Amino acid sequence: MKVLVAGSGGWGTALAMVLHRNGNQVFLWSYCQEESDHLKKTHRNPFLPGVDLPEEMIFTSHCEDAAEADMVVFASPSFAVRATAKSFAPYLREDAVIVCVTKGIEQGTGCRMTQVIGQETGRTVVALSGPSHAEEVSRQIPTGVVAACEDKTLAEKVQKVFMNDTLRVYTCPDKIGVELGAAHKNVIALCAGVCDGMGYGDNTKALLMTRGLAELARLGMAMGAKRETFAGLAGVGDLIVTCTSMHSRNRRAGILIGEGNSVKRAMDRVGAVVEGYYAAKSAWELAQQNGVDMPITRAAYEVLYEDRDPREAIRSLMHREQTSEVEDAAWAR
Ligand SMILES: NC(=O)c1ccc[n+]([C@@H]2O[C@H](COP(=O)([O-])OP(=O)(O)OC[C@H]3O[C@@H](n4cnc5c(N)ncnc54)[C@H](O)[C@@H]3O)[C@@H](O)[C@H]2O)c1
Repeated sequence: MKVLVAGSGGWGTALAMVLHRNGNQVFLWSYCQEESDHLKKTHRNPFLPGVDLPEEMIFTSHCEDAAEADMVVFASPSFAVRATAKSFAPYLREDAVIVCVTKGIEQGTGCRMTQVIGQETGRTVVALSGPSHAEEVSRQIPTGVVAACEDKTLAEKVQKVFMNDTLRVYTCPDKIGVELGAAHKNVIALCAGVCDGMGYGDNTKALLMTRGLAELARLGMAMGAKRETFAGLAGVGDLIVTCTSMHSRNRRAGILIGEGNSVKRAMDRVGAVVEGYYAAKSAWELAQQNGVDMPITRAAYEVLYEDRDPREAIRSLMHREQTSEVEDAAWAR
């Protein structure tokens, strides 16, 4: 089949390689001509060093090419998803399957990425997400992800098209949980990086990851997600990979902040989209709108946007009132 991947960053390119390997004709779309020309000329993407792109891959910056596609995969950074979907909307075939692999929550609206694309295109969108570094997927390192959609047939179509001997794809009906997990793990990874940068240890990171996941599940359930989704690949799976790996730019940005760099300097030094920075603001807004207690997210927001000292933020998290680990805990006595 013909597949167009809309977004030629590291992730869009890695997935384009998967789709090509699975026997599809692949168009890799870049938002600017210059980027597309560079890919065409070098068959290399600077985000995936040492990886050669297939000769047969078609590099384009024309949205019109979507008119031929059986499947369109949106892979832009979250801030650009609405504009990208809007530009593609007039060209999408009626029967084209629409997939979103972007992780994030839209600033200002609090919309999940599949909602944004749905609003611009009028289609049901499948979210594909999970613990998956582009660098590893492009080198065919065994990886597992989830195709989430309320429509089982669509989720299974996406599963079939992406799955191969090194990429295992599960289906899941809980798109809300999968997308919230995808967006929020970047916030927690940023916080984990801050702890690493300040010289705290593995204990601190485990505490942060576990309690970060607990508050994410609280928010998710208030928004209609299922608790068990957060124990899956798009929840704890993605959290593990993002909080512990040096591939994670969110964690790297956090380390720089923890070492004493300003937030702006940390973002500049990472030099690529740090989704957790945007997701922290959106998540804190969603927490307030839904009346959900998210102390770690709040602290992250204050460090990133209100210049709060990270050490003082951790101290105040440790001094919160005493509580039980599990809400509604059932005690024998
Ligand atoms: N990199 C990964 O390992 C990975 C894995 C899973 C999911 N994701 C998600 O995929 C999304 C894209 O991440 P990435 O790592 O491919 O990004 P990237 O940082 O590698 O690339 C960013 C891309 O965005 C493009 N871009 C910049 N401004 C744009 C604009 N105004 N309109 C459209 N495109 C624009 C750039 O041309 C560049 O190709 C993010 O939401 C990320 O969280 C990434």
